[in-house]
Amino acid sequence: MSLRVLRLRWSFVPDFSGLMETFLPRLSAEEQQRAIRFRISEARQRFILARVMLRHQLGNASGVVPESLSFATGKHGKPFLDTPGLDHPPHFNLTHSGGLVALAIADDEVGIDIENVRAVAMAQRLAHRFFSPEERKHVFELEGEARDRAFLRIWTQKEAYLKATGLGVGMPLRGVETEPNPAKPPGLRAIAGDREEAARWTLLEADIPGALCTVAVRRPAATLEIKRFTPADLGGLPAVQ
Ligand SMILES: CC(C)(COP(=O)(O)OP(=O)(O)OC[C@H]1O[C@@H](n2cnc3c(N)ncnc32)[C@H](O)[C@@H]1OP(=O)(O)O)[C@@H](O)C(=O)NCCC(=O)NCCS
Repeated sequence: MSLRVLRLRWSFVPDFSGLMETFLPRLSAEEQQRAIRFRISEARQRFILARVMLRHQLGNASGVVPESLSFATGKHGKPFLDTPGLDHPPHFNLTHSGGLVALAIADDEVGIDIENVRAVAMAQRLAHRFFSPEERKHVFELEGEARDRAFLRIWTQKEAYLKATGLGVGMPLRGVETEPNPAKPPGLRAIAGDREEAARWTLLEADIPGALCTVAVRRPAATLEIKRFTPADLGGLPAVQ
């Protein structure tokens, strides 16, 4: 399998309303227990949908029956495929926001972040802590929704990179310098001042309604294949109207 083309699949919880409980048997015992522990219905449904989509898509990418896939987590919690017999398991990463779930699959380290477009509480404080002076300038010279979008765009770029590395909150995010100008394609300018390391990465944006979504992959060039995942993908279930 060659995934120079990154696969991005996204889905929307309401598209699957009434179907979630029928999906539970497709999950492992551990995933089912995790699903049951969610107190908030939206979070529970989002988790179930994310796992069903993940298994379905990784099954396609690796040629393994989705229910037979097994997973493990890295030191800081990043899940990876740990299925016996797979020599080069695909890399993947999941993200969610509101009713949206998105998944990236690639041959190389990959991270993804999605954020619903919204006014961000404490944007000034967060930007002061995590953004470079140039990133802050680009955000706060704007007003209203343009400002929210500029903030979230930079945020998703940093998070996508952070999630690709799998390091979690331990990484100093101010050192992850992104392309802050919304008129230019996304990208990494430097990682802790290292421009060569930044050049090893590609950042790509996905056009998903009502959201900002960035994928980071550790390769110098890549293209994105984006598809909406619907009940029809699972076969025999009603298609989205
Ligand atoms: C792990 C982390 C990256 C998740 O971020 P989030 O925005 O809360 O959540 P997302 O919806 O994007 O991603 C969650 C998914 O990422 C995956 N994940 C978990 N730990 C991960 C890690 N260390 N690295 C990458 N992916 C991870 C999981 O699949 C998880 O979904 P699941 O729990 O349903 O399996 C987060 O805990 C973290 O460390 N955030 C950094 C916070 C920060 O300082 N941000 C500043 C940005 S400018």
